Amino acid sequence: MDSIQSRNQKGFTLWFTGLPCSGKSAVADRVAEVLKEQGLNVERLDGDIVRKDLTRDLGFSKEDRDENIRRVTFVAKLLTRNGVAVLTSFISPYRQVRARARKEIGNFIEVYVKCPVEVCIERDMKDMYKKALNGEIKEFTGVSDPYEEPINPEILLETDKETIEESTQKVIKRLNDLGYLP
Ligand code: ADX
Repeated sequence: MDSIQSRNQKGFTLWFTGLPCSGKSAVADRVAEVLKEQGLNVERLDGDIVRKDLTRDLGFSKEDRDENIRRVTFVAKLLTRNGVAVLTSFISPYRQVRARARKEIGNFIEVYVKCPVEVCIERDMKDMYKKALNGEIKEFTGVSDPYEEPINPEILLETDKETIEESTQKVIKRLNDLGYLP
């Protein structure tokens, strides 16, 4: 049954974008679990992991962030065209580069993980906002570097108002409505 489902599976990329600590990885991880339980072939591409390997040579200037997303787009495109459910979680702060990813990948679902920066600062899982606010980290998104909000994302999550489970169900429902689930 699994193999039949994988054969019929239509590939897609769920592109999670948002501020640091907005909840991108947490929701993407949970959605990935649910999709695996449904028998889909799933792959996760996460900023903190990809930046230790494929893009370990890059920093956080606009050029480097764009190059980071360009490489990730390439990988997501290959996986998507081979029927994989791809879930990426990158800040991906620039609209133009997300638009390019959309065009390249094709079956692209933009998920804006929206959360007020004040709430992200409270969460501050890795003390990075603290360091950014006192100047130890430069060019930190939301503090000293821009984040361009998506204008028309397919999915809007508001993680200061929803639980991870509620956000996850929203994503699953939308995927179903879009005809991506078997
Ligand atoms: S992106 O802008 O190129 O899309 P990406 O999602 O890969 O960023 O990486 C973000 C992660 O890098 C954050 O979770 C944070 O832990 C770390 N990081 C280190 N420096 C910065 C910075 N200046 N701005 C944002 N994130 C940073």
